Amino acid sequence: MKRNSLFSSCICLLWLLTAVVLQAVESAKGKYAHMLFNELFEDYSNALRPVEDTDKVLNVTLQITLSQIKDMDERNQILTAYLWIRQSWHDAYLKWDKDKYDGLDSIRIPSSLVWRPDIVLYNKADDDFSEPVNTNVVLRYDGKITWDAPAITKSSCVVDVSYFPFDSQQCNLTFGSWTYNGNQIDIINSLDSGDLSDFIEDVEWEIHGMPAVKNVVTYGCCSEPYPDVTFTLILKRKSSFYIFNLLLPCILISFLAPLGFYLPADSGEKVSLGVTVLLALTVFQLMVAEIMPPSENVPLIGKYYIATMTMITASTALTIIIMNVHHCGSEAKPVPQWARVVILDYMSKIFFVYDVGENCTSPQRKKEQEQKLERDDRCQRRHKEERSHLSGRNDCDLKEKRNGNLNKSCGIHGGNIRETVDCCSCYKILIKNIEYIANCVRDHKVNRAKGVEWKKVAKVMDRFFMWIFFIMVFFMSMLIIGKAA
Ligand SMILES: *[C@@H]1O[C@H](CO)[C@@H](O)[C@H](O)[C@H]1NC(C)=O
Ligand SMILES: *[C@@H]1O[C@H](CO)[C@@H](O)[C@H](O)[C@H]1NC(C)=O
Repeated sequence: MKRNSLFSSCICLLWLLTAVVLQAVESAKGKYAHMLFNELFEDYSNALRPVEDTDKVLNVTLQITLSQIKDMDERNQILTAYLWIRQSWHDAYLKWDKDKYDGLDSIRIPSSLVWRPDIVLYNKADDDFSEPVNTNVVLRYDGKITWDAPAITKSSCVVDVSYFPFDSQQCNLTFGSWTYNGNQIDIINSLDSGDLSDFIEDVEWEIHGMPAVKNVVTYGCCSEPYPDVTFTLILKRKSSFYIFNLLLPCILISFLAPLGFYLPADSGEKVSLGVTVLLALTVFQLMVAEIMPPSENVPLIGKYYIATMTMITASTALTIIIMNVHHCGSEAKPVPQWARVVILDYMSKIFFVYDVGENCTSPQRKKEQEQKLERDDRCQRRHKEERSHLSGRNDCDLKEKRNGNLNKSCGIHGGNIRETVDCCSCYKILIKNIEYIANCVRDHKVNRAKGVEWKKVAKVMDRFFMWIFFIMVFFMSMLIIGKAA
């Protein structure tokens, strides 16, 4: 029992000793870091370029990592991106012997304490010139400073929307020192492209690379060269959103327009269908115009809308003209001979237009009509036979019989000769009147036939333009879909 307690207390002591020693080492490291910091920054100024020889150039290595595309504003031509900017350089005054400080080889200190190169985005489109973020820098014993800073940049980007929504864009991000010239600070791009390994997929844009090139520019004001590094962000738009929301509805609506020619003229809806389609397209066009910059380059989809709207305007105008032809009616001139040959004979056969209303009759009805015609024919034949039979008889007998009939119908009983003669003239007048009525009916029939002919002309023209416009709509849709592929 006693031995046991002694053993356990021994272990306790050992534990305590270990803890104390460990803490001493820790505090020794902390102490060294503290000492190092005080010694380094005793007479350090972060205002001056940290080179021993001021004639010598300071190399700053720049690396950009694209993390996210936050927004592409086509209308204002601004690209908002989330970048990580890593700069590294050698500070000649911040070096130490790491053996003197217990092997301490790097410290992390606020970046505001050390000198920083004033590298800025040249093509910034932001209105506030905010200071760089005060993140820490990593300071290595040989003087190498690495500064990682996140930044949300708004850069101007020339957006060419000629091929919207099947367009690609190139946005330049130019970084350079604002005050130091090429003899004081030289910018070196660490890789020959921006780093895209941490890029978060964007819903609208595909990234096709971010090459970096170094340029040396001599500005008008000064003779010194100013180096800069330009990252070109190559973007391709994912167009399916626009295809489904802007293009397909328009294509579907435009296929309705030629059907306006197929509508029966008496429905009174022909013109209003065209106008409705036109209005629907205007809504889509306004939507596109709202997101596009007001530049001279009309986007592809805008051109498609304009072409479709022009076509529908033309079709509506044609519909109005054809409606006039349809309502020519019986007072109009007869259909001219050429139109009769071209439209009624040839075109009606090409476009399968039969007589007005005929395509609605079923084959059975047609048969009935034929039977009726046959019956009429038979009737007429019998009538003719009877008449010829009658004319072969005694004329007087006939007259007497006729007069008798007439007297009966005139309500005259037991009439004498005078009355009979009177009745004969009355009969002549009647014949005249009947002839007049028959003429009227014949004229009416002829006029109606004329109206029907005009109606058929209108129908053939309708059918002709329907196919023409269908083909046009089809080709235009193919053209714009072909651009997508
Ligand atoms: C800077 O980089 C150039 C080459 O890019 C090199 O010749 C020069 O020695 C470097 N200067 C320093 C101070 O490292
Ligand atoms: C973008 O930068 C590249 C390389 O410096 C240059 O060739 C191109 O003209 C620039 N584009 C624009 C729009 O400034």
